[in-house]
Amino acid sequence: MTGTQNWIDVSQFLKLRKGEMDEFDYEDKKIMILNLNGEFCASDRICTHAYVDLTGGILNESERTVTCPLHLSSFDLKSGSALNLPAEKPLEIYPMKKEKNKLLILI
Ligand code: FES
Repeated sequence: MTGTQNWIDVSQFLKLRKGEMDEFDYEDKKIMILNLNGEFCASDRICTHAYVDLTGGILNESERTVTCPLHLSSFDLKSGSALNLPAEKPLEIYPMKKEKNKLLILI
């Protein structure tokens, strides 16, 4: 990894309800922020198999996975791992934290 990482304020996504996800672009990164049963998490939102936006995919809150809408590879939103073919490469996962009513992401 190159460059310095910073905690970025993304408190606008605190409005996401359980089971909702939304898009966040930062520099050249295309990220999705999700509310999984009240816990916020973030990952890249472009499938690692082909250029498809995973916010159009299927979110499974209890299994913490998102499934690509094109060829149906699922990704673990904790580790980023691709759980089934055709995708093989993991998604990048970004650490998040809540601090003084702010939601922060480490990018
Ligand atoms: S584009 Fe996502 S699995 Fe093929």
